[in-house]
Amino acid sequence: VLLRFKDSITALDGEKHDVIHRKAEVNAAVSAELFKMLEQEKIPTHFLRLKEATLMQVRRLRMIPVEVVCRNIAAGKLVKSYPFFKHGEKLKTPLVEFFLKDDKRHDPLLSEEHMIASGLASKEEVKKLKMITLKVNSVLRKFMLKRGLLLVDFKIEVGRDHRGTLRVGDELNIDSMRIWDKKTGEVKDKDIYRKGGRLDEVARTYYQSYKLILGRDFK
Ligand code: CDP
Repeated sequence: VLLRFKDSITALDGEKHDVIHRKAEVNAAVSAELFKMLEQEKIPTHFLRLKEATLMQVRRLRMIPVEVVCRNIAAGKLVKSYPFFKHGEKLKTPLVEFFLKDDKRHDPLLSEEHMIASGLASKEEVKKLKMITLKVNSVLRKFMLKRGLLLVDFKIEVGRDHRGTLRVGDELNIDSMRIWDKKTGEVKDKDIYRKGGRLDEVARTYYQSYKLILGRDFK
């Protein structure tokens, strides 16, 4: 399967929509780098290769229509939903959450029991999903820390390959994670856009994060 990355940026379940010059290249390059790193750490992904700057060749997966979120620090929906999580506070332990992919219903939270009872995934798969997610967290967190970044949270999507093996699919870049500068706490991800930042500022954040993550200038 060939995945084409786009320059479009959306938020609020698609209500907010804009175009960021060359964002596709940034997201494709960051995703490729992070997928390669996961594969090196023996975490199965759909990644095969980057064919062009914005075109990624991947294995076909039957996707589980669930967004798996993992959090280390409280932010976003978690803080809005519950009174006891304060923005920026470190969680006692990494938290894995499941959300149904359904923008019209604003991606409702799913318990493990919802997943199993509905047949979205088997009990065994739910257990594996959590293991995969926590391993991605541990690898990604260390990777970011080495680059002066705190991994606040991220989202992955997982699917089954032709053998039924679970693999991380979709994308993995600053559209799907929160990263903060370790020293200053500065936001280095899509939250700049969600919070109404000017489009040139948003673009600058994407180019800067490319440099931080890949260790070379975005040219
Ligand atoms: O970002 P928001 O407050 O809507 O949701 P969240 O549950 O706090 O987001 C947790 C993490 O998952 C953040 O890193 C988001 O960027 C990511 N996410 C995503 O990539 N796609 C979504 N549809 C929802 C969240």
